[in-house]
Amino acid sequence: MNKKLLFNLMALLVVASMLLAACQPAATPTQPPAPAATEPPAAATQPPAAAFKACQVTDTGGIDDKSFNATAWKGVQDAIDQLGIEGKYLESQQQTDYDKNINAFIDEGCNIIITVGFLLGDATKAAAEKNPNQLFSIVDFAYDPPIPNVLGQVFNTNEAGFLAGYVAAGVSKTGKVGTFGGIQIPTVTVFMDGFALGVQHYNEKHGTNVEVLGWDANTQTGLFTGNFESTDDGRTMGETLMDEGADIIMPVAGPVGLGTAAAAKERGNVYIIGVDNDWYVTAPDYKDIILTSVMKYMDVTTFNAIKAAMEGTFQGGVTVGTLENGGVGLAPFHDLDSMVPAELKSELETLKADIIAGKIATSPGEMPKPEATEPPAMAAPTGQLEIFSWWTAGGEADGLNAMYEVFKKMYPEVEIINATVAGGAGQNAKAVLATRMQAGDPPDSFQVHAGHELIDSWVKADKMEPVTFIFEQNGWMDKYPQGVIDILSYNGEIWSVPVNIHRSNVLWYNKAVFDENGLTAPTTWDEFFTIADTLKAKGITPLALGDNGIWATTHLFESILLATLGPDGYKGLWDGSTAWDGDGVKQALEILSRLLTDYINEDHAALSWDQAAQLVADGDAAMTIMGDWVAGYYTSINLEPNVGYGYAPSPGTSGNFIMLSDSFGLPKGAPNRDAAVAWLTLCGSKEGQDAFNPLKGSIPARTDGDRSLYNAYLQSAMDDFGSNTIVPSVAHGAAASEGWVTAINDVMTLFVADLNVDAALQAFVQACTDAGVCK
Ligand code: GAL
Repeated sequence: MNKKLLFNLMALLVVASMLLAACQPAATPTQPPAPAATEPPAAATQPPAAAFKACQVTDTGGIDDKSFNATAWKGVQDAIDQLGIEGKYLESQQQTDYDKNINAFIDEGCNIIITVGFLLGDATKAAAEKNPNQLFSIVDFAYDPPIPNVLGQVFNTNEAGFLAGYVAAGVSKTGKVGTFGGIQIPTVTVFMDGFALGVQHYNEKHGTNVEVLGWDANTQTGLFTGNFESTDDGRTMGETLMDEGADIIMPVAGPVGLGTAAAAKERGNVYIIGVDNDWYVTAPDYKDIILTSVMKYMDVTTFNAIKAAMEGTFQGGVTVGTLENGGVGLAPFHDLDSMVPAELKSELETLKADIIAGKIATSPGEMPKPEATEPPAMAAPTGQLEIFSWWTAGGEADGLNAMYEVFKKMYPEVEIINATVAGGAGQNAKAVLATRMQAGDPPDSFQVHAGHELIDSWVKADKMEPVTFIFEQNGWMDKYPQGVIDILSYNGEIWSVPVNIHRSNVLWYNKAVFDENGLTAPTTWDEFFTIADTLKAKGITPLALGDNGIWATTHLFESILLATLGPDGYKGLWDGSTAWDGDGVKQALEILSRLLTDYINEDHAALSWDQAAQLVADGDAAMTIMGDWVAGYYTSINLEPNVGYGYAPSPGTSGNFIMLSDSFGLPKGAPNRDAAVAWLTLCGSKEGQDAFNPLKGSIPARTDGDRSLYNAYLQSAMDDFGSNTIVPSVAHGAAASEGWVTAINDVMTLFVADLNVDAALQAFVQACTDAGVCK
């Protein structure tokens, strides 16, 4: 085995594990719900009561991911069959489940726990160190120094990937082959490295010029979907690569690649290289286009770990799968065997022997490094800096000013132009921005919601510069929750710098009014209406609304939708899996209709969100449902949480967090680009975020904010963001494209006027269809 390569791999793993260690959990807004314990499908034989138990914790791809979870599970099943053990698994739906599932298995007395995937590295380490007598084996991870009760299973997939790249280059008709990854972590890029170097080697041998799309092994940059789940993303990536001419594609993203395979099959004359296991077998729908697969025999390593544990010979440390020991390899060409000329096959045999003999480098770590290029030292910016936002109300303007103050201290030579267009949620600003962008007159940087608003409106329209370099230069990749990075990412790049996380589903109430009337915050809509009747009888408006911008009604409505649909149903609205004319949406409209008819201030259409919040502060209204910029507003009028005002999740949404994030982007053609980069660097820094957020009423998007600077409400939001189910806000650009949001706002405008539930349902269905999400 190649020691140098192992060292490089270990170094990468350690660095990456440190990166991941700082990530805050459960921040992906599109993640599925909490896990359910699952019995293994059709356990082979009933084990005796005290049977040896091997228990597998999957990552978010699930047990049937046709990838490493499934392959490791095959190892457990082989152990069930051959060793008569008992085998179980728990599926992790989100990163917060890792600890939970591991601990459940520790409590259950599992003899060995198999954790699957690089992303479980931290959770496994923590559990193993706390429970030194519990045996673990982790797929795709190794620790340096080793942990005595953990056996890491790692694979030199670059060796097999190299063979795959070589054969791909040899059979490509277009002279272009492609690859992309799920998330940019070493266990993914190691495949891509091997593939790219294999193509390069083919070119050197044959004097050809086959191009690799999607990955540059020297600069370690390329295409990533940012997840391991979305087959839609796999399809999009595949289409992009095919449009650019690739006729062989190796997706390294678990089940995401099935979307690529589907797209390739439709297009025709494009072939797929599977990864982890033999896709000809595991994805038979595509067997006519599977050229080969880069195999990682995790079933074998998992089986061996279980066997050793059972026989008392288990040793912690690392086991490395190589071409030499058969831990990695290339799957047969099966039906496409005739596509690969005999000569190429024999070259592959020689190549394999040479790799085993250490004659050929299959990883860029083993190659002479290209000249290191220092980023050019940036002179301190001067001139002007125009920052565009809609932050003019109390709290939001204070937060912005606080950041300007820090900036001015750092760059006294720069004159800041505070370009604001008043109107909550950008109700007016967005139109002004669109006009300017279309006219080629961008500000230096502008406020934009992370998620669809950013990506669909501006990135896809090619109006933005990626800001990945700012993240990299400042070492921020491990300072933000992966879920946040994910929604800022597209085509392997990050497109804006987030300053905060806001919560949308908050009920704010007048503490004194509640105390005097012996009321507590309603936890359901039924409770809300009971309390509301009491308040009405006393002449107090139950719910304040300020929808002089219709977004405020949409905002209220998204909270109601979450209550009637639950987090899964709510999320399903944005991918077409929840019917827009179903009972949950109907019920939500009925609640909204009831509120508008009897419980909301009559002048709502004349007020802004902060004026509605003021009604509550003054005791003229008892409650309002609005994002936590209200906390910033209350701070600006010197009200304290739990004294001047109370707060609770909006009715029926406890345990769920509708999130949105304000970010700043770098438009192409920013007139003062250097100053803009300096501004973005401040926006993403701890100092900038800790200056901004306590006043803004939001929590830092970074994971290392100084908690002591935040009031009781914001501390509770930090806790909830770490533990709740996160779903995206539609009113504030996270869940849906700007066009779709506008259509929903239009439905709301009509509904407020006519309260016609059926008409609204039909209009929602149409809007979803127009958005291209509902078929
Ligand atoms: C939201 C924005 C918040 C706050 C609010 C009211 O869309 O994300 O930062 O400004 O509008 O203006």
